[in-house]
Amino acid sequence: MTELGDGTRVVRAGLPDAEQGAPFLPGPTLAAPFHLRGEPADADFSYTRYGNPTWRRYEEALAELERGEVVLFASGMAAAAALLLTALRPGSVAAIDRECYLNVRRLAATHLEPRGVELRVVAASGLEAAVRGADVLWLESPSNPKLDVTDLSALARAARREGALAVIDNTTAGPLLQRPLELGAHASMVSATKHLSGHADLQLGYVATADPALAARLRDWRRDAGAIPGPFESWLAHRSLPTLALRLERGCANALALAELLRSRDGVAGVRYPGLPTDPGHDLARRQMRGFGTVVSFDLGSRERSQAFLDAAELVTEATSFGGVHTTAERRARWRGDDVTEGFIRLSAGCEDTRDLVADVAHALAHARP
Ligand SMILES: Cc1ncc(COP(=O)(O)O)c(C=O)c1O
Repeated sequence: MTELGDGTRVVRAGLPDAEQGAPFLPGPTLAAPFHLRGEPADADFSYTRYGNPTWRRYEEALAELERGEVVLFASGMAAAAALLLTALRPGSVAAIDRECYLNVRRLAATHLEPRGVELRVVAASGLEAAVRGADVLWLESPSNPKLDVTDLSALARAARREGALAVIDNTTAGPLLQRPLELGAHASMVSATKHLSGHADLQLGYVATADPALAARLRDWRRDAGAIPGPFESWLAHRSLPTLALRLERGCANALALAELLRSRDGVAGVRYPGLPTDPGHDLARRQMRGFGTVVSFDLGSRERSQAFLDAAELVTEATSFGGVHTTAERRARWRGDDVTEGFIRLSAGCEDTRDLVADVAHALAHARP
């Protein structure tokens, strides 16, 4: 058979073989200790912090999509922390994309730098130089929240030349829209809190890698640091996986429709969406992505206008995060960690009907006239 498409793959990913009278997806295994006689090595499962069948099933599902081994964590940040803290020690050097997620930068500044790790936090254009002599290269594309697109293959190659671990935070795209391991990264990190689970009801994260030694180090870290996913959350996320391709299809179409609307309106500046042919990242995104994502950003020029827009919108819920079935948006400056203006809005397109969303955003813009 020819290779299955992603929409087909997600429907059955990680499911056990059909067994008479058994459910398609077995329920969560809610256990701390498991029955264990004799030596721990004699049993598949001994204590959930060491391993749990529900995580394992979801990890296997994600591994099919990522084409690598997957280690699941309690959140995206738990996955990021595991990568950075196992790869860096006093005297190490980390080259970090200045536009990457604010908590990754904060983690590095508050927990790595004081422990003697040299941080080179630079714009994407400076990363090739910054990675010289570095131990880790941390990239994010499209970046959150500004949606800059970075040449991942070129930078992963530069990192490999230096012997640095090339990590791509693939949260804004996810495994169906971008495959970092195929682009040359050693590790792809994803917050499964976003599209992967997609219903705004849980937090999880994971690392995918083709390097079994790295996967083993991360599993050991998870066990020792206790950054473990809950079995119930893991089951819920697996439960949501079969609709991932459908949700993305609608979300990407809605994001493009909203980006086109926003671009056509006076008083809306800096509209960014990699799917817009006019976007500075479009050509690169076409080369390294399979779809352009559900996040759009734009600037209404002032805090007041942005808040008026958010207050007037009825189908756009004011909330942080992205990648869910509900369309959400927020004034990103309220978090005080990104280099954005007071009028900057990050919007995540959900799965509502396109026509309704476009009408609602047009209506909200009318309430936020300059
Ligand atoms: C790009 C990116 N990376 C990592 C994270 C962290 O994920 P989590 O909130 O699941 O810890 C986020 C969360 O917003 C994110 O946007």
